[in-house]
Formats: sequence, C-alpha cells, structure tokens
Amino acid sequence: MHRIYAPRHHGGEDMHNDIEKILVTEEELAEVTKKLGEKITRDYAGKKLLIVGVLKGSIYFLTDLSRHIDLPCHIDFVQASSYGSSTVSSGKIEIIKDISDDLTGFDVLLVEDILDTGKTLKHIHDMLSKRNPESIAVVTLLDKPSRREVDIYADYIGIDVPNAFVVGYGLDYDQYYRNLPYIGILKEEIYKN
Ligand code: IMP
Ligand code: MG
Repeated sequence: MHRIYAPRHHGGEDMHNDIEKILVTEEELAEVTKKLGEKITRDYAGKKLLIVGVLKGSIYFLTDLSRHIDLPCHIDFVQASSYGSSTVSSGKIEIIKDISDDLTGFDVLLVEDILDTGKTLKHIHDMLSKRNPESIAVVTLLDKPSRREVDIYADYIGIDVPNAFVVGYGLDYDQYYRNLPYIGILKEEIYKN
C-alpha cells in the first residue's frame, strides 16, 4: 500500500488530527470572500485591473475571490522564497517567479493569504511600484497585525487573526495542509520538537 501522507513531523494520515481548533469555517470563508469581491467590484469599476496572487498560499483565496469580482481583469502570479519548514520569517526574500516589467496603465491588486511580519509583501509591493502602475492595492485574507515588523498595510482585509500558526485554505506548514477546506490553528506539537 502506498503511503503518500506520512511525513515525520505530522501526527498521522488524518490531517484534521493535527488541528488544535478551527478558526475560520468553510461557510465563513465563503462569506468573507464574497463580501471582499463585491467591495472590490465597486471600487475597480472602469479600471484596468490586474490581479496578482502571491504563490502559493493565495491560490484558494484568489480563485474564490476573483469569482466575486465581476469585472474584466488580468490574473497573474508572483512567487517569493518561502519559510522553508520553519514557522518564522527569515526576512530574506527572493523572487522565484515574476510578472511583466511594465505595468503602465494597470491598477494592480496584490492578493495575499496572510500578512504576518509584512516583509514578503513589502518586498513585492516595492518591486512592482517601480514599474509605473496606475495604482497598487493589497487584499489579504488574514491579518496578524500584532506581528507587523515593516510598514505595510492591506487595503482590504478579510479577517484579523490572533498570533498563532494557522494552516488550510492555501496556508501551509512545511508544504502540507494547504488543501484543508477551513483555516485551523496547528497543534504546537507538530512544529515544536
Ligand atoms: P511575512 O513576510 O512574515 O509577512 O510572511 C508572509 C508569508 O508567511 C505568508 O504569505 C505565508 O506564506 C507565511 N505565513 C505567515 N504566517 C503564517 C501562518 O500562520 N501560517 C502559515 N503561513 C504563514
Ligand atoms: Mg508558506
């Protein structure tokens, strides 16, 4: 029998067992993405919208959110270096996947899964600002304001979350748990040993 899901740091084959507590349910996620999408639709009417997802964590949020943005738009992705298997940001950001050099005329909407220290998004924001966009705004599903270390704010925020390590709906620990349909707090024993 093939055992694909049995890495050493995880509790076992049932991902749900590794979750301490569900923080945001599927129903709440659907509600929040709809509300944000409708607000963005109102704000971006008549603009040349370019939605830029920050890989990989934003993919679930972006696909749900963009279906509630009832406007013509382009969709693209950037990818920055990730945490590796640690739960704290290294602060060193490297761009692995980039978008066009010229953003003239575009109103860029950056889509993030979570704003933590803010270092990743600040780096991407500064990089894209230099490419002559009409505007740049940020939408983040989750915000951990108590953790911010650099000066960056989201224009649209789904939910404020406490200072805990969360996974699911795109968010990972060591590349696992992205496909959980809800957002949950990961049991400490999974990442502390
Ligand atoms: P920042 O540069 O510290 O703001 O980190 C942003 C990135 O770190 C996010 O895009 C996530 O990929 C990751 N991250 C931060 N906090 C969490 C968390 O609680 N769970 C999972 N990933 C997180
Ligand atoms: Mg990550």
